[in-house]
Amino acid sequence: MPANCLSEWLTAAASVYTAHTHLHGFPGPRLAAYTRLWMVEALRSEKCSTWYLETNERYGPLARIGPNNLLTSDPEVFRQVLGARSKYERGTWFDCLRLDPHRANLITERDRIVHNQLRAKMAAGYDGKDVENFESTIDENLACWLRYVDRHGLSAVNTTVEFDIARSIQWLLFDMICRLCLGEPVGFVEDHKDHYHFQKTLEERLPVVEKFAVMTEVNSWIRFISMIPFLRRVLPSSRDQDGIGAVLGLAETSLKQRQRPDYKPRKDILGSWLRHDVNQSLLPSEITIALFAGSDTTATSVRALLLHIISNPLIYIRLTDEIAVAHKEGIISQPCREVEISRLSYLQACIKEGLRVFPPITALRERVVPAGGDTLRGHFIPGGTRIGLNLLGLLTHEVFGRDPKVFRPERWLEAAPQQLRSMERVHELMFNWGFTRCLGIRLANLMISKFMIEVFRRWDVTTTRPQKPWDSRCHGIFYQKDFFVRITPRTNSE
Ligand code: HEM
Repeated sequence: MPANCLSEWLTAAASVYTAHTHLHGFPGPRLAAYTRLWMVEALRSEKCSTWYLETNERYGPLARIGPNNLLTSDPEVFRQVLGARSKYERGTWFDCLRLDPHRANLITERDRIVHNQLRAKMAAGYDGKDVENFESTIDENLACWLRYVDRHGLSAVNTTVEFDIARSIQWLLFDMICRLCLGEPVGFVEDHKDHYHFQKTLEERLPVVEKFAVMTEVNSWIRFISMIPFLRRVLPSSRDQDGIGAVLGLAETSLKQRQRPDYKPRKDILGSWLRHDVNQSLLPSEITIALFAGSDTTATSVRALLLHIISNPLIYIRLTDEIAVAHKEGIISQPCREVEISRLSYLQACIKEGLRVFPPITALRERVVPAGGDTLRGHFIPGGTRIGLNLLGLLTHEVFGRDPKVFRPERWLEAAPQQLRSMERVHELMFNWGFTRCLGIRLANLMISKFMIEVFRRWDVTTTRPQKPWDSRCHGIFYQKDFFVRITPRTNSE
C-alpha cells in the first residue's frame, strides 16, 4: 500500500477513534465529531451567528462543533473561561488576525505575560486618558461628516437622495480612529472615498482570513511561506500603495516624523504608546489593528442600531422626542458632551439593546482549556479543548425576559433593580471579561451615543428599501453594504 494512502487511512481511523472518546458526552451536529468542516460551513453560510445561536439552542449551552471544539452561550462559562484568574489562553484562532505571521499584536498575543505587559502600556492611549482633546476630536470628525451629509445626502420634500449610509459610517469611523491614533484624518469623509481601497481590502480578505481561524494549519503554512523572500509578497507591506499595507506605511511615516529632532510631541494615541515605551517595531501593526478593531465593530453597531430604530415607529418617536426635548430645554449642549449623554436614559436603553440583539463580533475567539482539564457546568473537559464563545447566544439568554430576541429598549427601563443587575452582568460580557476585555469601550460608547444624538437632533431618517433595507453578511464580524436611507431635516431642529 503506498505510504500516503496508509497515512490517509490512519488519519481517518484516528478521527473516528477521537470522535468516540474525546468530548464523547457532548451533543452537537453529527458531522462535527469527525471534522471541522461544520465550522467552515457555518462561516461559508455568511450567517454564522445564527448557526451558533441555533446550535446552542438545540444541543444545550455546551455543544460540540468540532473534534476538539465546544461552543458555549452560558454566562457562567464565559466568566470562568475569561476571568482574570482563569488559566485559559487564547487559542490558535487568533493567529489568523496577525499582520506579520511571526509577530503577534495586542489583539492576537496568546502569551499571557507578554500580553499583559503590552496591554498595560497601551490602555491609557485607547481609553483616551492620555490623549489631549479626545472628545473634541470625535466631535470635530462627526461635525465634518454631518456637513458632508448636509451638502450631499439630504432629500427635499419633492425628491429623494438615496444615501448609502453603510459606507459613509465606516469612513467616518476610519477617519476618527486615524485622527485619534495619528493626529490627522486620512480624508475618507472629506473626499467620501475609500482611500487605499482599505475598506474593499478588508471586505475581500476577512471572509477568507476567518476560515483560517478554523483551518489553523493554514497559518503555519503562511508562516513558512513568508520565510521565502519572493513569496513574502503575499503579506501586506508598508511599501504597498493599497490596502492594509498602505495603512502600515501611513503609520510608519508618522513614526519617522516623530523621530525628527524638531518634532513637537503630540498627545495622540501613538504619542501615548511611544511615551509608554511600546516596542516601536510593533507600532505600525498596532495602529492598523486599532483601525480595524475599532472601526468595524463600532460601524456595525451604529448601522444595526440605526436600522432597528428606523424600523420601529414607536421606538423612533420616543427616542427622537427625548432628544428634541433635551435639545430644547438645554439638557444637552451642541455638540452633546460626554457628561450629558447619561441624561438621555431612553437613548442609553436603545444602545444597550442594539448591542445586545446585534453584537458586532460573533466570531468564536476560541480559548484553550488548561493542561489537566477543567470542569464546566459540572462536566469534565480535557486540557487542550477549544471553547468557542457564542455571543449572540449569550445575549439572548433568558435573563433578558420572555422575548430576548426582540429589540425592545424598554426592558432596560422596566426591570426591577435586581433583575437589571443580572441583565447587566450578562450584557457586559459582550466586551469580554478579565485581561482581554475590550480597551475601546469608552470610544465605542461615545461614538454611538454622539452619532445618534447629532443625527436625530437634525434629521429624520427612513429606509428607501423597506423590503431589503441592507445587505448584511456575517463572517464572525459583519460585512454590510447597500443600506440606503432618505434623510430630511426635522421640522423642530434649528
Ligand atoms: C461596539 C464596539 C466594540 C465591541 C463590541 C468590541 C468588543 C471587543 C471584544 C469582544 C474584545 C475581546 C477580543 C478577545 O476575545 O480577546 C475586544 C478587544 C479589544 N478591543 Fe474592542 N470592541 C468594540 C470597539 C472597540 C474600539 C472602538 C476599539 C478601539 C479603537 C477597540 C479596541 C479593542 C482592543 C485594543 C482589544 C484587545 C484587548 C486586549 O487584548 O487586551 N474595540 N473588543
